[in-house]
Amino acid sequence: MQKTVDFLKKAGTYYLATTDGDQPRVRPFGTVNVFDGKLYIQTGKVKDVSKQIHANPKVEICAFMDGTWLRVCGELVEDDRREAKQSMLDAYPSLQGMYSADDANTEVFYFKSAKATFSSFTGAPETEEF
Ligand SMILES: Cc1cc2nc3c(=O)[nH]c(=O)nc-3n(C[C@H](O)[C@H](O)[C@H](O)COP(=O)(O)O)c2cc1C
Repeated sequence: MQKTVDFLKKAGTYYLATTDGDQPRVRPFGTVNVFDGKLYIQTGKVKDVSKQIHANPKVEICAFMDGTWLRVCGELVEDDRREAKQSMLDAYPSLQGMYSADDANTEVFYFKSAKATFSSFTGAPETEEF
């Protein structure tokens, strides 16, 4: 998992794909946090992306950096624990103006059954699972 975390943090932005019925949806995301040995992302319950994840937790993310692209497919699991949300907000102080661990909007999800694939035009793909 660490290689995936390092890549996503260094890339800064990744693109999160969800499904909305039979329509794929994709948008930029940036939050990545390790808590309890798992890779978490953060969003707000008011967003369409949240509603799509709850309807179908199978997602894929993609990021590109320095000639390598990373895709992570897996399932997102909501973690409603205050400490999981606070850990995320501690990692992103800039979010604290918009979100708090005690509001009704903030939510964090961790990846389950995830497969990360690092690809480039020059080498063989590398994978990690977590
Ligand atoms: C660079 C960048 C990073 C972002 N990171 C996040 C994030 O981690 N979580 C989040 O909920 N929104 C994030 N956003 C905002 C979402 O992309 C935006 O709210 C989007 O419209 C959500 O998707 P939806 O409209 O399908 O709900 C980010 C936006 C940008 C430009």
